[in-house]
Amino acid sequence: MEKTVNMDWAHIPFGYVKTDYNVRCTFKNGEWGPIEVTDSERVDVHMAATCLHYGQEIFEGQKAFRGKDGKIRIFRINDNAERIQRSANGILMQPMPIEKFREMAIKVVKLNERFIPPYGSGASLYIRPLEIGMSAQVGVSPATEYLFIMFVTPVGPYFKEGFKPTKVAIYRDYDRAAPCGTGRWKVGGNYAASLTAGDLAHKNGYSAVLYLDPKEKKYIDECGPANFFAIKGNKYITPKSGSILPSITNMSLQQIAKDMGLEIECRPMHVEELAEIDEAAECGTAAVAAPISEVDDVEAGKKYVISKDGNPGPVTTKLYNHLRAIQLGDEEDKHGWVTVLD
Ligand SMILES: Cc1ncc(COP(=O)(O)O)c(C=O)c1O
Repeated sequence: MEKTVNMDWAHIPFGYVKTDYNVRCTFKNGEWGPIEVTDSERVDVHMAATCLHYGQEIFEGQKAFRGKDGKIRIFRINDNAERIQRSANGILMQPMPIEKFREMAIKVVKLNERFIPPYGSGASLYIRPLEIGMSAQVGVSPATEYLFIMFVTPVGPYFKEGFKPTKVAIYRDYDRAAPCGTGRWKVGGNYAASLTAGDLAHKNGYSAVLYLDPKEKKYIDECGPANFFAIKGNKYITPKSGSILPSITNMSLQQIAKDMGLEIECRPMHVEELAEIDEAAECGTAAVAAPISEVDDVEAGKKYVISKDGNPGPVTTKLYNHLRAIQLGDEEDKHGWVTVLD
C-alpha cells in the first residue's frame, strides 16, 4: 500500500484539499473521448459556455473508505452513476455511461490513494464528479460539448464533537426548488437557490434549513443538502415528494431499517406530524445521519422539540452505526453496495 499522507485526520474540515490527480472526459462530435488524467486544478472554459450562462452544471457526491483490512471501499458507485444520468437527462446534458463513470471513480481513487484517511480516523475520501456544458452559445439551448471531471478530497469526520442532535429551521419565505422543477436532480442551481436561507439558518444557530413542499407548504420536503426521516414507534417515515433529491443514504437506511424489522413509510409527511414523532434526522453522504433535536417553524411561530434529553435516539444511532460499519467493511455487505478495490 502506498504511504498515507500525514494529516491531522480528526480535524480536517469538510473542504477542499489539493490531491495529486483528477480525471476528465470530454463529449465532442457526438461521443465521449478517453479518460484523461491531469494534475491541473484548472479548467479552461469559453466565456460563452452554457455552464456559465444557463446553468448546465450537474454533480455528485460519494465516498471511499479505508477498511480495517487495509482495503479501499467505494460506496454505491452505480447509484451515483445512475443519479447523474437522471440529472443529465433532466437538463438536456449528455449522460455519462455507467461503466465509464465507474472506471473514472475507481481510477481517481486509486491515483490519490495516499489521501485516503486511515481506518478509525472517522475521516474519508470524498469523490466529487461534475459535468458542465462547454459549447459557446448565446441562445438558450443545450450545449453540444461537455466536460466531465472527477476529483477527490479527504474530508474529516462530520461529528467532531460527537454524534449529537442539532436544531433545524423552517423558513416559509424560501424554497430551494419549484413543484415540477429541478429539485429531483443534482443541479448546481438548486444549491444557489438554497444559499440565502442556509446562511440565515447558520447565523441563527441552526445546522440546516428544513424545506416544506413548495406548492402547499404543508408537507416536509428535505433539508438543504440532505433528506429527512423520522422514527415513530416501529416506523421509519420519510417524505415522498417530486421536489426532493432521492438520497442514496436514505435508500440505504430504509433497507437497513427494513432488515431490522421496521416498517417503512415513504409518503407525504405533514409538518404537524413533527409533534408526534420519537426521533428525526437529516441523512446524506456527508453525515450518514445527523439527528435533529428541534424543528423551529420560524414564521409560523411553532417549535417541535424532538429530542427531550438532547441525545440522539436509539434507532437513529443504530442505523447510523450499521451503515457506517458496512461502508468500512466491518459489517457484511448483504446488499452488494460496496465496490472493494483490488
Ligand atoms: C438536496 C440533497 N438532498 C439529499 C442529499 C443526500 O443524498 P445522498 O445520500 O445521495 O448523499 C443531498 C446530497 O447529495 C442533497 O444535495
